[in-house]
Amino acid sequence: MKLVVFSGTVYGAAEEVARHAVARLNQAGLQCQYFNRTGLAELLAAQPEALLAVTSTTGLGELPDDLIPLYSELRAQLPAALRGLPGAVIGLGDSSYDDSFCGGGALISELFDELGVRQIVPMLRLDACETVTPETDAEPWVDAFAEALKQG
Ligand SMILES: Cc1cc2nc3c(=O)[nH]c(=O)nc-3n(C[C@H](O)[C@H](O)[C@H](O)COP(=O)(O)O)c2cc1C
Repeated sequence: MKLVVFSGTVYGAAEEVARHAVARLNQAGLQCQYFNRTGLAELLAAQPEALLAVTSTTGLGELPDDLIPLYSELRAQLPAALRGLPGAVIGLGDSSYDDSFCGGGALISELFDELGVRQIVPMLRLDACETVTPETDAEPWVDAFAEALKQG
């Protein structure tokens, strides 16, 4: 199965989590393609059969700048090719932001609902207050996601 992974980051943590997840998912037998700062045309050209989004949160519950162009294009076009695909979201944030904790991930989760992307495992929230190793903390969730993808 061809899994397309994309990330949004300010300081690099979400990218690190995404790259670590890609390595692990490839080991699990999935065919991952990772996009950093991509546009919609490039993403669709990869002909994804599943999607994984990894994003941090900035401002007050906002997406990082590097993910805004893709987010805007996806919202504007709602491409039919993505409808029905399995997917999932990893959100990075900081629980001291209370109501906007992992707001960036929540925006992508809502976008996936609009796109008709089926979230086959609940969004993972990684809290910068609690961990300095989000990429390894995500491993059990990544394994569960891989398993859920294999089961269809
Ligand atoms: C200016 C700024 C604003 C932030 N706003 C939020 C926020 O609204 N909600 C949240 O959960 N985390 C917020 N965070 C925390 C980051 O999302 C968190 O530290 C994350 O791990 C950073 O990942 P990155 O290196 O991929 O950008 C903010 C951090 C900074 C520096």
